[in-house]
Amino acid sequence: ASILMAASEGLPFIKTGGLADVIGSLPAALSDLGHEVKVVMPLYKKIADKYMGDLHFTAEYTVSINYQEVPVRIYSKMVDNVCFFFVQHQGYFERDTLYGYQDDGERFAYFQKAVIEMLNQLNYWPNIIHCHDWHTGMIPCMVKETHDFDARYRSIRFVYTIHNLAFQGNFGPEMLDSCLGLPYYLLDNGNVRFDGGISFMKSGILYSDKITTVSPTYSQEILTPQYGEHLEAVLNMRKYDLWGIVNGIDIKLWNPATDPEIPYHFDKVNLKAGKALDKKSLQAELGLEQNPDVMLVGCVSRLTWQKGFYLMMEQLAAISNAPIQLVILGSGESKIEDAFRELENSNKGKIAFYKGYNESLAHRIYAASDLFLMPSLFEPCGLSQLCSLRYATLPLVRETGGLKDTVAPYNEYDKSGNGFSFAAYNANDLVHTLYYAADVFYNRKEDWDTLMTNALNSDVSWEKSARTYSLLYNELMGQ
Ligand code: ADP
Ligand code: GLC
Repeated sequence: ASILMAASEGLPFIKTGGLADVIGSLPAALSDLGHEVKVVMPLYKKIADKYMGDLHFTAEYTVSINYQEVPVRIYSKMVDNVCFFFVQHQGYFERDTLYGYQDDGERFAYFQKAVIEMLNQLNYWPNIIHCHDWHTGMIPCMVKETHDFDARYRSIRFVYTIHNLAFQGNFGPEMLDSCLGLPYYLLDNGNVRFDGGISFMKSGILYSDKITTVSPTYSQEILTPQYGEHLEAVLNMRKYDLWGIVNGIDIKLWNPATDPEIPYHFDKVNLKAGKALDKKSLQAELGLEQNPDVMLVGCVSRLTWQKGFYLMMEQLAAISNAPIQLVILGSGESKIEDAFRELENSNKGKIAFYKGYNESLAHRIYAASDLFLMPSLFEPCGLSQLCSLRYATLPLVRETGGLKDTVAPYNEYDKSGNGFSFAAYNANDLVHTLYYAADVFYNRKEDWDTLMTNALNSDVSWEKSARTYSLLYNELMGQ
């Protein structure tokens, strides 16, 4: 099929979270299966600064925002077999960060209008537009409500993937007319209405032909009030068209045998020796005590409530008393950052907190650690645990969303499993599981080795999931 992916971020150009990893790797996997995939995203400042000289000018036109014609320029660039389109507007997108502005609604309304008109301008008619997260949630609605007279638009089918239901793109009702160009009866009939305003996420769920989310477990969880973020009723209306497809990672980018970011490469054959050298080197890099025998626990994450850090903050004493070294890389909520800074200060040489976003260091943490901590409150899929598995680092996770689907807890009887897990969102269970993992690490070394091999043998590639997306597309095209 011919597929256009619309998303707000994607590697290798720009990344703030897992969405970018997916947009950077799923298209290539689909293209290997014979699909023709293109991607469209905004031209952020960071992309312009780095790539402008490499981009091809592709089209120029206007769209209407606030009753004025606003210019759009499209640039493009091929990455392997995948064509990336960029929507340029300096005022809207060439800012220091991607999100969190007062006019986010207007910015992404503009982006989505630009995407819809781009098809006409380029005379490019994909079979399927695959939208991702709230930033692109209005596209199906706008096409169906305002372009239905046009057979070329009418033949397009829509897939909408929810990467994180917690971010919904909810805005005031006035935008409906002024920015999106949609009639007010869509508020009255409830199609786009949420809490008195409009919701890009809700609209994406209602107007798309198929909805997917990024793991089977999360696809079930979001049907309940506990995880549904007040959209569970809407999701239940669409549950027969809702698929849960687990993410993969780019196994060429994340490869311990070739990774340019790690000092010592390893594979099955020299697994333990290679990891030991990476551990030694990371201990030196971060000022941790040089000790080859201690269990090194890693954590790479946005520091937000979603990721389970409040559980850790309830048990800082137990964590600092555990027979481990801990390295945390991340930035986010200041109260979490403050707690980790304090934890580092009172445990010099044992606990290291690196505040910030650092892709290179992330690779070294995945490679060097023995255990990876990810006790999320909710986790649509999670990619960090997949990266850990790829580097034979055992994830310790809470059994939720994609963590539940990708991490199998250690079974003492048959030595199966590729990590450790606990079920209830509860700080004692987290600490208990951490101490239990340490016990296995120090006292059942053979089992630990088996678990590392199991981790390394886990399939974290896109292969299987790309086939499932393929099935989904084919099912839609048959309609
Ligand atoms: P989410 O998208 O919710 O943040 P995921 O686990 O899906 O969580 O994806 C997070 C991605 O971002 C992973 O590739 C992880 O390595 C990366 N990442 C998160 N925080 C940092 C950081 N501080 N520095 C470098 N990479 C990070
Ligand atoms: C979101 C989710 C994360 C998921 C990622 C990519 O950021 O929080 O769990 O892995 O999207 O789908």
